[in-house]
Amino acid sequence: MKVIAIANHKGGVGKTTTTVNLAACLAEKGSEVLIIDLDPQGNATSHLGFNPNDFEETINDVLNDSSNKIDINDLIVEHGTKGLYLIPANLAMSRADLSMSGLIEKDHRLRKAIKKLRKGFDFVLIDCPPSLATLSINAFFAADDVIIVVQTQPMALDAVNMIDETLFEIYSSRPDFPIVPYALPTMHDKLTTVSKTVLNAINEKFNPNTFSPIHNNVKLKEASGYGKHILEYDPVCAGATDYRRLAKDILKVYDNEKNEGRRYISRDS
Ligand SMILES: Nc1ncnc2c1ncn2[C@@H]1O[C@H](COP(=O)(O)OP(=O)(O)OP(=O)(O)O)[C@@H](O)[C@H]1O
Ligand SMILES: [Mg+2]
Repeated sequence: MKVIAIANHKGGVGKTTTTVNLAACLAEKGSEVLIIDLDPQGNATSHLGFNPNDFEETINDVLNDSSNKIDINDLIVEHGTKGLYLIPANLAMSRADLSMSGLIEKDHRLRKAIKKLRKGFDFVLIDCPPSLATLSINAFFAADDVIIVVQTQPMALDAVNMIDETLFEIYSSRPDFPIVPYALPTMHDKLTTVSKTVLNAINEKFNPNTFSPIHNNVKLKEASGYGKHILEYDPVCAGATDYRRLAKDILKVYDNEKNEGRRYISRDS
């Protein structure tokens, strides 16, 4: 099982879109995939067609459960797409920074909960909130890898440098299993010079750990509005092609890891 945090404290860069559609594409290729919605906005939950307010118990209850009575396995919801599962979130999690502040090992609660998953998932994708506070730190400690989602827009790399520092601190505390982040450029517009310039800068900074970009595609936006992942909404659009390619690249990363050790990325294009 690989646990991947999809992160950037900058808002609106495509984290949730990536979590949901990457998960759907991995499931299409035969993987068993669990999405953990770790954002009080509950956007991954609604993108998958659920109403976040319908859930009495969410990942928040597991994180705050100091007596360990709540079983993470009981919170898993089947999506309906073969191989795709969700642990939802809703606004009840908004106070997590405060409510978790007094808990023992508050930054490790998600990691410990994930260890208790009984179903043999191939991937757990964590949709992080746009912050670098307790919830995202929990995701970073739980994750085998972090994908930093970066919009190919001016100033995008400023935020990335801050995540880098945070990950470096976490790395220092678990040197046995370093996080070397991957970058995923999103909402790329290959016609504009600024997008191209930022893409080059991302490639340079993360080389060779940059995935091929996800292009701007209005179908991706529409799909989220309709509560559908892109393979349900329009499986032949350019956005679906981009996320299928990402899924393929990720499977290749972990295949290579088995043969050649960690931290190798190779892609078709
Ligand atoms: N490649 C894309 N092309 C067009 N629109 C996109 C693309 N990716 C994301 N969007 C749209 O951009 C908006 C922000 O995307 P998303 O919600 O995935 O970002 P986020 O980083 O999760 O935001 P937040 O920080 O609020 O959690 C949404 O309306 C989404 O539909
Ligand atoms: Mg989001």
